[in-house]
Order: sequence, then C-alpha cells, then structure tokens
Amino acid sequence: AFKEAGNKVYMIMGARNKDLIFWQDKMKTACDELFITTDDGSLGEKGFVTGVLERLMNQEPINYAIAVGPMPMMRAVANMTKDKGIKTEASMNPIMVDGSGMCGACRCEIEGKPKFACIDGPEFDGHKVNYDLAMKRMNIYKEEEKEKWEQMKKSLGRD
Ligand code: FES
Repeated sequence: AFKEAGNKVYMIMGARNKDLIFWQDKMKTACDELFITTDDGSLGEKGFVTGVLERLMNQEPINYAIAVGPMPMMRAVANMTKDKGIKTEASMNPIMVDGSGMCGACRCEIEGKPKFACIDGPEFDGHKVNYDLAMKRMNIYKEEEKEKWEQMKKSLGRD
C-alpha cells in the first residue's frame, strides 16, 4: 500500500542464516529495493538489518519506519530512528492466550501505560514501547516452550 501510494519503499529482511529467509519474491514486489542480511553471511550482507538501516538513514531522508520481528531488533531500530526523529511503528508479538483482552498474557507497557497487544495493537509507536519489560515477559514460558519444542521435534522424528 505504501508503494502503491507513491512512496519509495525500502525493505530490509534479516535472519540468522539463508534457510530462514523466505518470500523474497513477494517482498520484492512490495518495495522498490529489497536488502537481505544474515548473521552468518550465507545470504545477502553479513550482519544485521540495523547496519543497512543506518546506511539508508545517512543516504537520504527517511520518513517512516516499520519494525516487525524479534524484540531486540525492534528496540535497536527504534533507538536509531528516535535519534533522527523518524516516526516508527513496532509490531509487538508477545505471547497471546485468549486474544480478547481478558487474560492479560499479552500485556505491554506503552508510554508507561498498560496496553494489550491483542486488542490495542499489535502495532504501537515504537518509541513508546518498554522493550525491557516486553522481553522479560516473553521469557516467562521459556522453559515450557523449550520442552514443547523438544517434544514436537521428537514426534516429527527430528531429533
Ligand atoms: Fe489475552 Fe491479549 S491475549 S489479553
């Protein structure tokens, strides 16, 4: 929609390695220029999405940024864009249970106030998110998630 509205759209996709990058063809059609980064350099540039973002921000004026992905990445992007006064949207991805604002599992803190990602978001002003709290809350079920993941791998025969 941004592109169709006449904006120049850059997309930066990042992952740990090439096996985790997908839909490049679809992403290419949604933007003017697609950048890919991998932590291990197996595809695109070696490094993080923030490296490309830094380059683009120094290259030309950027008006709007949208960050979708791991919390540390969104926090890093928001910190970078805040310094430049670039409005930034973060797509919060907390654990959700009922998705109706009743259970409280997806509670985030936005500008010091509690919000529920399922009914108030999941998109929020990236400069107002309490990422430290969000990351802490994401780890609440870490052990259970790990245990389930191991069970699932076993049941699929992928030990
Ligand atoms: Fe339960 Fe949002 S998922 S309140």
